[in-house]
Amino acid sequence: MNIKIDLPHHPYDIQIEKGCLSQAGKWLRELWQPQKVVIITDNHVASLYAEKVKLSLEDAGFQVAVFDFLEGEERKNLTTVQKAYEFLVKQDLTRSDGIVALGGGVVGDLAGFVASTYMRGIHFVQIPTSLTAQVDSSIGGKTGVNTPFAKNMVGTFAQPDGVLIDPTVLETLGKRELIEGMGEVIKYGLIEDPELWDLLSDMDGSVESILEHSESLNEHSCQVKRKMVVEDELDNGIRLYLNFGHTIGHAIEATAGYGRVMHGEAVAMGMVQVSKVAEQKGLMPMGITQSIREMCQKFGLPVDYENWDVDKLYQALTHDKKARGNTMKLVLVPELGSATIHPVSLEEMKDYLVK
Ligand SMILES: NC(=O)c1ccc[n+]([C@@H]2O[C@H](COP(=O)([O-])OP(=O)(O)OC[C@H]3O[C@@H](n4cnc5c(N)ncnc54)[C@H](O)[C@@H]3O)[C@@H](O)[C@H]2O)c1
Ligand SMILES: [Zn+2]
Repeated sequence: MNIKIDLPHHPYDIQIEKGCLSQAGKWLRELWQPQKVVIITDNHVASLYAEKVKLSLEDAGFQVAVFDFLEGEERKNLTTVQKAYEFLVKQDLTRSDGIVALGGGVVGDLAGFVASTYMRGIHFVQIPTSLTAQVDSSIGGKTGVNTPFAKNMVGTFAQPDGVLIDPTVLETLGKRELIEGMGEVIKYGLIEDPELWDLLSDMDGSVESILEHSESLNEHSCQVKRKMVVEDELDNGIRLYLNFGHTIGHAIEATAGYGRVMHGEAVAMGMVQVSKVAEQKGLMPMGITQSIREMCQKFGLPVDYENWDVDKLYQALTHDKKARGNTMKLVLVPELGSATIHPVSLEEMKDYLVK
């Protein structure tokens, strides 16, 4: 399937197809002239897929070099960026050459940042390999790295020239990472896509079922993200819907100590908690919390957090960057498949943390 990201200043396509990784060269040849290309990846993904992609690109006439760094969020920093710049200089990469980001969200964010800043920006494409990267981070143009002060503190908005998604690469992804990505997929169903919700309802929740349906899950998810990203360019704030479950989720991540609870897991807990209170307040339909809880549990996502500490969570929440003055924009789901923004005072926000 081909999904068009119709941004007026930089339209590009997302290509989703099982097995398409071996066609990466042909795909890129339609986007770029034969030229020098650097694949940026991490050591883990490199050992699995870099050679395959490199060969395919070389077959299509590209001159290819591979830069890899140690996998993990800790390496998504300016030191790695500096090493990447050094590598690009050594390869004599110029503004008419390009970068291929091959990996999970860490690689995508870092490679996108490097590409958008090296020589004031050179062309790049995304070949996301984790579920999180395929359904979320590779689309939308947010790039960046962490600093000692904050996560994703330094970054750019930069769109790739294309995104190539091969759902079969998910077969080698760790089980926890795969399940984590389902947190965002479930969110997409809730905020925008009842058909996706039905598909998820029909699945048995096993890893095998995720892999079996990976192409459809990707297609639905990318369509939702596309809609939010493209319409946000019109500045109506719809992109905020993507934050469903994230306000409380971010607070859980922060209080747990980064890395302990994975992002998608925190989102699952956040979706259940915000729904529970919104349902009690009559802002979300009766029974929806139970449906969300059951859906998350079916896919193996945690929905309860044993270290729940209202004061700490509240503190983390009010430090959240989404806090504007004395109100927060909370995303609710008044009906399955559609979202709305509900302004909540910081004081009222405390209600949403009551277990
Ligand atoms: N830019 C955005 O809009 C956006 C959105 C969401 C998340 N993010 C960022 O994405 C990052 C998280 O992404 P992630 O969960 O993909 O983390 P990640 O890139 O660290 O990947 C997780 C692990 O899976 C491995 N891996 C990736 N693909 C694999 C495959 N096919 N087979 C085997 N192993 C594979 C990686 O080597 C790594 O060890 C965070 O840094 C987050 O800030 C960015
Ligand atoms: Zn998220």
